Amino acid sequence: MFKKKILKIAIPFLSFIVKNRRIKIDESRGDVLVNLGCGLRCLPHWINIDGSLTAFLGLKRFNFINKLLYKLAGSSAHYSFKEFNNIIKNNKLYFYDLRRGAPFFDESVDVIYASHFLEHLAKNEAKKFIQECRRILKKNGLIRLAVPDLDIAFKMYQKGKVEEMLDSFFYTSDAYDFHMHKYNYNFQTLKKLLEEINFSQIKKQSYQKGECPDINFLDVYPDHSLYIEAKK
Ligand SMILES: C[S@@+](CC[C@H](N)C(=O)[O-])C[C@H]1O[C@@H](n2cnc3c(N)ncnc32)[C@H](O)[C@@H]1O
Repeated sequence: MFKKKILKIAIPFLSFIVKNRRIKIDESRGDVLVNLGCGLRCLPHWINIDGSLTAFLGLKRFNFINKLLYKLAGSSAHYSFKEFNNIIKNNKLYFYDLRRGAPFFDESVDVIYASHFLEHLAKNEAKKFIQECRRILKKNGLIRLAVPDLDIAFKMYQKGKVEEMLDSFFYTSDAYDFHMHKYNYNFQTLKKLLEEINFSQIKKQSYQKGECPDINFLDVYPDHSLYIEAKK
């Protein structure tokens, strides 16, 4: 309850403070790879963005702040403190509320990866988010999206796995807004959304298969995900 109150106040406030942020890109380091709604699934050569308190306050130097965050973020269910601390220290993790847009200049990014993030946005926010992705991608740039696959949800429902289906696809948490699922997709509806925003070469992909770099590490949840790639 206390945690929920802190997050409800802190995140919108912090997000307002950094709303005009534009992340500096070091082009000399090769392709610009951006992981949006990354959670803790980060890689050092990617620019990792998330709207969590961990992304805002995580520190490379002081472990005690990270310890506090570890407790607050509820990461202990998936990571030991050592793992959590290493992720913060070894990666470029930036805080941004992606409902405000994407914190990059036009046509500055080569690859966008967003896994199990889009369903955390309302339908209209998701459309704006995809528009922002197109804006920041360079010509011929690649986007890879992973979302819970609604077609798999219906198969589970038909097999009588109703509660399991509801818990993984229509997940609502009383902990915090960012954890809720607000909309769901299957291949047809996500393809339609990408087409509306003028993405081309839209392809259904599978777990750890596709053109996007590092998907052997980045792709998770093989059992119920839809993977899709498209080009600007
Ligand atoms: C289910 S997790 C996915 C994490 C990771 N991409 C993965 O595949 O494991 C969803 C993430 O989206 C982030 N998120 C939700 N809404 C957001 C928003 N409006 N802006 C930025 N991040 C957001 C949450 O903080 C959370 O880390």
